[in-house]
Amino acid sequence: MPAASPARRPRVVLGVAGGIAAYKAVEVLRQLTESGHDVRVVPTDSALRFVGEPTWAALSGHPVSTGVWAGAAEVAHVSLGREADLVLVVPATADLLARAATGRADDLLTATLLTARCPVVFAPAMHTEMWEHPATRANVGTLRARGCVVIDPAVGRLTGADSGAGRLPAPAEIAALARAVLARAGSAANANGTGLAAGLMPDLTGYRFVISAGGTREHLDPVRFLGNSSSGRQGYALARAALSRGARVVVVAANVALPEVAGAHTVRVVSAVQLRAAVHAEAATAHVVIMAAAVADFRPVTRAAHKIKKSDGDPEPVALVRNPDILAELVAARQPGQLLVGFAAETGGPGADLLDLGREKLVRKGADLLVVNQVGDGLGFEVEDNAAVVLGSDGTETVIGRTSKDLLSHRVLDLVTARLAPADGSVIAVSDSTRR
Ligand code: CTP
Repeated sequence: MPAASPARRPRVVLGVAGGIAAYKAVEVLRQLTESGHDVRVVPTDSALRFVGEPTWAALSGHPVSTGVWAGAAEVAHVSLGREADLVLVVPATADLLARAATGRADDLLTATLLTARCPVVFAPAMHTEMWEHPATRANVGTLRARGCVVIDPAVGRLTGADSGAGRLPAPAEIAALARAVLARAGSAANANGTGLAAGLMPDLTGYRFVISAGGTREHLDPVRFLGNSSSGRQGYALARAALSRGARVVVVAANVALPEVAGAHTVRVVSAVQLRAAVHAEAATAHVVIMAAAVADFRPVTRAAHKIKKSDGDPEPVALVRNPDILAELVAARQPGQLLVGFAAETGGPGADLLDLGREKLVRKGADLLVVNQVGDGLGFEVEDNAAVVLGSDGTETVIGRTSKDLLSHRVLDLVTARLAPADGSVIAVSDSTRR
């Protein structure tokens, strides 16, 4: 058997267009080089008006040029794109999106975009009016239809005093999204032992996901609550993985202290009742709902308006009432073609086998897939790694050994994708490219 080729550093081309957010691309570059990526920076001429060539060259460790004439002997405008594992454009301005959509090749970055045969991710940043203009919407729609990932910008403070949609997401989160794209390519390559696989193009373009994450809190009074230790890491990793494969993603986040996933629309909730309302509102137009949140089964019957004081007297037992089972409700109200995925974090116990509990839960909930994972003893909540067995309503049982939450997410999404291609094509249509 031939030896597997030694692992090489994943190659990223970081394209930088001429917008004020170019300064944030410096941090994206830093994050990617620190996590061991080989990054070649390709700025446009106007990007260099914001951040100079020495910064890009020093931080990437590679020479930098903007045009196709420098280093002609290396034919850089062809080789850079061909050899890249990922092309990431930060920030993507309205002008750059327009040039990419129309296939221009009048500088090194646009030429590289034409020769790239690897995943391409654009992180746009511009003023709200430019982002919302029909011309930009059409260009974004064209690029997405061609298999590029164009993430939605964040909503917030823009260059001046104004605020709205158009802000570049946090650089660390853009770098995390890039790693999620590469994790998928890396995992496929590891499976066949051939080094990094190019050509794992987005397979979830046009699909809309709703993913709940974190853990609900059921308040006894304004400062005390019944809660759980779910950090939201697994749900956020799933959101990142889905986005990296081209999906539009709404995250319903219950008490998650992590930075928002770049490109996702995040709805923040606290209690199970709030989570239920947010998930149902978003699920009506979703192809896939993944309930990764740890939802409290019970809530206090009453919530004190003021902090309960010792001086109020000896405590009464806390009376609880059952919370609605959101996943079961989603199953009952399922849209045609919609896929529903549950999570079951179990500790097992005396006479209680983890998988038997999972199999029983899958039937009871009626979901299509149930991701069963063991929690406690350094697994599950608040840790970087996870392991799971995914049970399918079709009787399949897929073991995913201990791995990063990013890779586990891709494995779960592989199972989702395999079930998302109905022969009759009856998936929910998302036709408007402007919808989130
Ligand atoms: N879930 C839900 N609504 C609830 C409780 C749980 O939608 N009120 C979802 C979770 O998000 C998860 C799945 O159901 O996807 C399983 O959650 P879990 O807490 O393991 O199941 P329970 O039904 O609460 O069963 P038990 O606590 O008895 O194990």
